[in-house]
Amino acid sequence: MHTHPHAPREPLSRISITMPRSLLRKMDALAESCGQKNRSQALAGMVRALLVEHESEAGQGEAVGTITLVYDHHRSRLQETLTHIQHEHGREIISGLHVHLDHNNCLEVLVVRGGAARLRRLADRLATVRGVKHGKLTLTTSGRNLPV
Ligand code: NI
Repeated sequence: MHTHPHAPREPLSRISITMPRSLLRKMDALAESCGQKNRSQALAGMVRALLVEHESEAGQGEAVGTITLVYDHHRSRLQETLTHIQHEHGREIISGLHVHLDHNNCLEVLVVRGGAARLRRLADRLATVRGVKHGKLTLTTSGRNLPV
C-alpha cells in the first residue's frame, strides 16, 4: 500500500468495535498475510477495498479497469468482430495488449475507463462473441474520492 506524501492528513477518529473472537483472529491473519502489522491500518485498508468495490459496482461516476479476453484466433470472423466492437468503444479503451499464447490462443488485455455500467456492457459484448473462451472485467476506481 502506498501513501500520498502531499495529501493533507485527515484527523483520525478512535473507535472501539466488537466482533466475534474467531472473526478477529481471521482478520489478524489476513492482515498479517498482507504484511500489515498495524490493526487499525489493516482494518482501514479493508474498508477502503470494500468502498472501491462498491463504488464501481454502483455504476456511478467514472471507473477504470481491465477487460481480459482469451480466444482462438482461428475462429472465422472472431478477430474481425472483436476489432469492430473495440473501434466502437475507442473512447473507453485507453490501451490494449495482445499476447499470442500458443499456436491457437490469444490473450488480450484492454485498459478501460468510463461509466461502470457502460464498461460492463462492453465487457459482456466482447466476452459473449462466439469463440471467446474467457472474458473478465476487473473494475476499480482512481481512488480520488477515497481518504488515504
Ligand atoms: Ni494472437
